[in-house]
Amino acid sequence: MIVDTHCHLNDDRFDEDRDLIVENLEKDNIKSAFVVGTDLETCKTAIEMATKNKNLYAIIGLYPEYCEEYDENFENFLIENLNNPKVVAVGEIGLDFHTEGYNQKLQEEVFEKQIKIADKFKLPLSIHTREAFDRTLAILKENKQYLHGGSIHCFSGSPEIAKEFIKLGFKLGFGGVCTFKNAKKAVDTLKVVENRDILIETDAPYLAPTPHRGERNEPKYTNLVLEKIAEIRAQDKQILEDQILQNTFDTFERFKD
Ligand code: NI
Repeated sequence: MIVDTHCHLNDDRFDEDRDLIVENLEKDNIKSAFVVGTDLETCKTAIEMATKNKNLYAIIGLYPEYCEEYDENFENFLIENLNNPKVVAVGEIGLDFHTEGYNQKLQEEVFEKQIKIADKFKLPLSIHTREAFDRTLAILKENKQYLHGGSIHCFSGSPEIAKEFIKLGFKLGFGGVCTFKNAKKAVDTLKVVENRDILIETDAPYLAPTPHRGERNEPKYTNLVLEKIAEIRAQDKQILEDQILQNTFDTFERFKD
C-alpha cells in the first residue's frame, strides 16, 4: 500500500467530501495520509483530523511564506503538541524565495528555530524549498546536529542537489510533478537515486498528476505517481511500493501499522 506523506486534506477544497475521501483511503490502496499544517489554524485542524481517524497522521509547522506569524503563541503551540503520538514530523517548514518581497532573513530564522524545536522531540522534518536550494542546504548543514531526517517535499531538483539532501539524511518526496511533460530534472533524479531514497506524496489539493493536471489533487492519485516512478525506473511496481512503504516507516518513526 501507499502512504501519502504530504497532503492538505485540511484545506477548504475538501470541505464537501473530506469524510468520504478518508473513508475510502484503504479501498484506494492508501494505507495512510499525513495531513500537513501551514499555519496555526491548519496545524490545529491537522491534529484534529489525525486524532479522529486511524489512517491519518499530522505534520505541524509554519510555512515559510507565513514566517511573520511566528510568535511565542505559535512556538508554545508547537511545543505543546509535538508530544502527540499522531504528530509524525515538523513541517511544512523551509524557505520560499518565489514571491516578490519575501523576507529571507526572517524565513531563515523561523526555519532554524523550528529545526531546533523538532530536535527536542527527535522528530523528522517535511521541508518546503522553492527557488532556495542553496540556502536550504546551507542552513541544514549548519544545523546538522539537530537533524533527524525527513522528506524534501515535492522534490523536483537535479540529481546533484538530490545527492546533497540525501547526504544529510533526507529522503525525496515525489508527487504529481514527476508525471508532467516538462519535469526533466525530477525524472533525471528518479533515474539515478536508490530505492531507499524515495517517498510518495500528493501535496493535495495542489499538483495533481497527469491526466488530472489542473484538477483538485487527492491522496488516491499517488497510485498514478507510483506507476510513473516504476515506469521511469523500469522497476517492478510492487517491489517499489513495498520499499517505499518501508522508507516511510524508517523516516517517520511515530508512523506505525
Ligand atoms: Ni504542502
